Amino acid sequence: MPDALAIRDLHVQFHTRRGIYKALNGVDLALRRGEVLGIAGESGCGKTTLGLAVISLLPRNAAIASGQVVFDNKDLVNLSREYAERVGDRFRPRQHERVLRRVGKAMTRIRGRRISMVFQEPMTSLNPVLSVGFQVAETIYIHDPGLLAHRVIARTKATPQLMRELLALLGATRGDESAVRKFAADHDLVGLEEQALFIWRRQDIHISRKEKAVRSLAGPPMKPWERNIIETVAKTGSIPPLFARVPVLSRIVRRILVREGIRKAREVLTSLGIHHAERVVKMFPHELSGGMRQRVVIAIALANNPEIVIMDEPTSAVDVTVQAQILELVKQIRTSVSASFIVISHDLAVLAEVSDRIAIMYAGRIVEVAPTAEILQKPLHPYTQQLISAIPTLEGKSVEGIKGEVPDMRDPPSGCAFHPRCPFAFEKCNSVVPVDFRQGTDQLVACWLYEAK
Ligand SMILES: Nc1ncnc2c1ncn2[C@@H]1O[C@H](COP(=O)(O)OP(=O)(O)O)[C@@H](O)[C@H]1O
Ligand code: SF4
Ligand SMILES: [Mg+2]
Repeated sequence: MPDALAIRDLHVQFHTRRGIYKALNGVDLALRRGEVLGIAGESGCGKTTLGLAVISLLPRNAAIASGQVVFDNKDLVNLSREYAERVGDRFRPRQHERVLRRVGKAMTRIRGRRISMVFQEPMTSLNPVLSVGFQVAETIYIHDPGLLAHRVIARTKATPQLMRELLALLGATRGDESAVRKFAADHDLVGLEEQALFIWRRQDIHISRKEKAVRSLAGPPMKPWERNIIETVAKTGSIPPLFARVPVLSRIVRRILVREGIRKAREVLTSLGIHHAERVVKMFPHELSGGMRQRVVIAIALANNPEIVIMDEPTSAVDVTVQAQILELVKQIRTSVSASFIVISHDLAVLAEVSDRIAIMYAGRIVEVAPTAEILQKPLHPYTQQLISAIPTLEGKSVEGIKGEVPDMRDPPSGCAFHPRCPFAFEKCNSVVPVDFRQGTDQLVACWLYEAK
């Protein structure tokens, strides 16, 4: 099975007044389908830059000097890379902006819809003057109006008889997802399956209320002309340009679909463990606690059922107890959705909780990648070893910090970037950049110590 995402030899540079800052220096990394891949490393080693490069949201002074980000057989960074290759050091942020606009257009069908990102600071990624429900709804409305249209139309087609059959199926199969999807497809009710499954999976209500809620999915009919409009959106999967040009049409479409989006927002928030979601959707970000805000941001990222979710420091803005809840939530999400996840954190202990594999980053390169258990028990790279010995434990073993400082990447060290801090450095390390060496079945390490003699 091909990987969900492949990053190949990615180089990203920031053009600043004080010179070129080499933030990423040849990142090679694959995200496997369905896995949670953790990315760890000290602050400033380029973790966020990597996430932003994948989703094409780098700041305008960032140039992709070389490399590829391959998703669904397409290279997502080709336009930026071609521009950077053409102009080299004559890079002009203003001109680059035009390229970024083209990239933005090319990414509209991918960003937020197939790949989404939870940004580092939840308060800054929420709009303070819009209600939570509206913000979730708008994300879906912009990226996938067809999904909302299908949900509305499906309810108008659902009859009480069909809902009785669906209830029988839910009971008989104990809410089996594929059976419910097949039922919806066979009865021309696509869009209803996620609504029915959501109700069925709720743990906060009694079975009799679930049955009542499923029965009430058979909704009242719509006005024929409204139905025609929404059916067109469902069929085309987007808002036709004609609708956008005629104010009365665009208002109707927006009203119906945003209302549906808020309904879906309630479902997503409930599934993320938020109680009384019907009240929470009407609240504003400042009314929520840090943990709730983080859940809302995660809800926005998950709203369009993306294939890849990147979470940048999902627990750094919350206190320790909430951190544990968010980690539980990430574990729960991965079992309930079929996406692949990249979780970025400076805290290896956080990643140890949720990741299948962990990649260690240093000075804009991946220096080691391995399954979580292996990297924790048998770290190979000297930097990984030092990172692990810096994790505090309950036994009170002395915690050793990592000596030395993160290098200034305007003038990176030659050879292995870790050599000024490495206790094992030898001659070759100062001059030649280490390549990846495979160790065991699934461990890669970029360090000359592992070169076969
Ligand atoms: N727009 C920018 N211009 C110049 N330097 C930047 C810019 N954004 C980030 N950097 C630098 O790139 C380095 C990597 O940043 P970042 O990817 O945010 O690291 P991390 O997320 O691992 O802490 C940092 O040292 C940061 O100062
Ligand atoms: S390549 Fe050399 S300097 Fe770099 S981590 Fe390995 S031993 Fe240390
Ligand atoms: Mg960061």
